[in-house]
Amino acid sequence: GTDRVQLTLLNSENMRTIQDVYERLSPFVRPIHYELQLTPCLKESTIIGKVEIDVDIQGDVTEIKLHSDGLVIKHVCIQTAVENFADVRYTLNNEMISLTPSKPILVGKAAISIEFTGELGNHMKGFYRSTHKGGDGMEKMLAITQFESAYARLAFPCFDEPSFKAMFDVELIVDETLTALSNMNVISETPAGPGLKSVRFETTPVMSTYLLAFAVGNFDFIKTTTKHGTVVRVYTMPGKQVQGEFSLGIATRALEWYTEWFDIPYALPKCDLLAVPDFHSGAMENWGLLIFRKVILLFDPVKTSSTQKENITLVVAHELAHQWFGNLVSMYWWTDLWLKEGFACFMEYLFIEHNYPDYKIWMRFARDQITRGMNLDSLRNSHPIEMQIDHPEELDEIYDAITYAKSNCVNRMLYEYLGEETFQKGLRLYLARHAFGNASTVDLWNALTEASGQDIAHMMSGWTKQMGFPLITVSKVRRDEGSCVLALNQTRFIVDGSNDDARSKWMVPITTVIGPSSRLGEKYILSEEQTTFTVSIKVDEYVKLNANTGGFYRVAYDGPLFDCLVKNFDTLPALDRFGFASDCFALLVAGRYSATQFLSVVATAATTETESAVWSALDDGLDAFAGMLAKTDACLKKRLDAFVVTTLAPMLDRIGWEAAADDDSLRGQLRSQIINRLARAGHQATIEKALVLFSEQTANQNADIRGSLFGIAARHGNDES
Ligand code: BES
Ligand code: ZN
Repeated sequence: GTDRVQLTLLNSENMRTIQDVYERLSPFVRPIHYELQLTPCLKESTIIGKVEIDVDIQGDVTEIKLHSDGLVIKHVCIQTAVENFADVRYTLNNEMISLTPSKPILVGKAAISIEFTGELGNHMKGFYRSTHKGGDGMEKMLAITQFESAYARLAFPCFDEPSFKAMFDVELIVDETLTALSNMNVISETPAGPGLKSVRFETTPVMSTYLLAFAVGNFDFIKTTTKHGTVVRVYTMPGKQVQGEFSLGIATRALEWYTEWFDIPYALPKCDLLAVPDFHSGAMENWGLLIFRKVILLFDPVKTSSTQKENITLVVAHELAHQWFGNLVSMYWWTDLWLKEGFACFMEYLFIEHNYPDYKIWMRFARDQITRGMNLDSLRNSHPIEMQIDHPEELDEIYDAITYAKSNCVNRMLYEYLGEETFQKGLRLYLARHAFGNASTVDLWNALTEASGQDIAHMMSGWTKQMGFPLITVSKVRRDEGSCVLALNQTRFIVDGSNDDARSKWMVPITTVIGPSSRLGEKYILSEEQTTFTVSIKVDEYVKLNANTGGFYRVAYDGPLFDCLVKNFDTLPALDRFGFASDCFALLVAGRYSATQFLSVVATAATTETESAVWSALDDGLDAFAGMLAKTDACLKKRLDAFVVTTLAPMLDRIGWEAAADDDSLRGQLRSQIINRLARAGHQATIEKALVLFSEQTANQNADIRGSLFGIAARHGNDES
């Protein structure tokens, strides 16, 4: 029944095969319910615990294996309907404990009781301790958990794989002055010896071990209730609770909106968001007890910029989306990690688009997610979204831009292709069907296939099973009165310009936007390597591919099509301008466009561009280009600098140094980018003005350009002020 994985290790002297390095749990022993009692001792850094696990034995077994890592086992007994094994033999090996009762255990129910002790470590995994400064300036201790991906086994013996879902009754025995939190509400607090109390929590729904959580410490909180009756609280270090107001508002709105958008209620009676001084990742979605690094959750109205507010909103929306994507429906195995991470990422943006349209969040999506996903996935040795994982230790590597950003973009591509209604219908079906259970990628495709009436697995599996993404090369075959015939070709886009030996192909949703009216034109699924494709356009119209930059691919145009788009750049919608600009630089790096072509886009954009996200695609390009020339060709670098000065100085005049009354923070970012670029190109007038503003200490009035001013002062300030 167990999967044995053979690992081949190479070392300098010989080659050997090690068996049993990693073993998966037996499918014949299923946990149903855990009764867990833990006494974390913050002062001694120890955990004393006992756990009773009700299991369902689905085949006669001579041994039972479950996870346990770094725990000292004191005593084990197993009780079945017919037998009581009072002192069971056990061995510990490879993060597992294997229990061998004196006789085989027969099919049916059994209860495993284990007494153990463990360490309350300080390595930010398992159940661990951390410190914070109290109001009196003294160091205070707290203890929290981080169980994803495979660290619950550090805190108690358990079946620590995501498909071994069970219910949990938790009891924590803690110092009577401290607050103890877990996934569920407290049902009782009773004295438990000198200075101690026992805190019991309601039974959880069936859930994966990696989502269990505990927190013990000195916390304050604020709270509210959603319109559906869920209690939402933000817990902070003492006295900091007002800084949680902003997050509390976002969390409440997100719980309400997800409940409606997924058409599935939030599964627990409460939802706590806890801010701690430092944390292993930015945030963790433990069911009903989300934990955040405090700089990510708390909001100091004086110090927090609008970008930080946006960050808080994104992170809170992400962890709350997990309450459905991941917690309610979990992946069977880590190969499908993207099923939770990719969707939590996508839902962040969808939530904000619907609830805070002022953020123009798809522009941020383009700048962050598309850029990050494509940058990593255009490397020759990227990896597919669905990746074979044997040992959870290999997981650390796949919490990366492929699992997060590329998955996010692939989800958006499907969303754009199906439209929100069909996409939503498919996701609702998927979540409802697998609620309190597990799912794999195919289950998602099946639900979307049912919702759309199209073969989604056929279309999408190329995007999740192959690494890389396509470059669509477009050239004009013929232009008639009412139409344009285009030749399309797809090849994998590799940034070093090399060829793809695997000759990967994708089912590429080709969409079109027609200028100058920005109406959407024909769509087409490109599945072959090359084809021709006819777009109906009038004489004075032109076509751009990949409308909204909705697809995870790049587009290279032939000379005339390229020139036409550059000429009409300012008429394209902002997301299309972003995509065109971003493709231009990537294609320059890959050797498909010339520097002149890239700079012609910069020059055009400089006369009209108003969006910082679009400009950032060009600015990143200029930065990389200048950096490369600085190392290789000083003379060309000078020419590039001269080009930057002549092109951008008028742009800065147009935008101005001072924020206009109707400027938003994005305009401020654009201003900051241009000041920075001009200064880096050595534009004396810009440098001098920046130094004056810096020395007048007006930087605070110019919050948006503060970063650039500081940078310029640091580089040029010494000799001039
Ligand atoms: N589930 C992750 C946290 C995590 C990361 C656990 C790596 C184990 C290993 C969480 O939902 C997450 O994705 N957090 C992100 C923030 C998010 C807004 C992208 C993080 O911590 O960076
Ligand atoms: Zn996540």
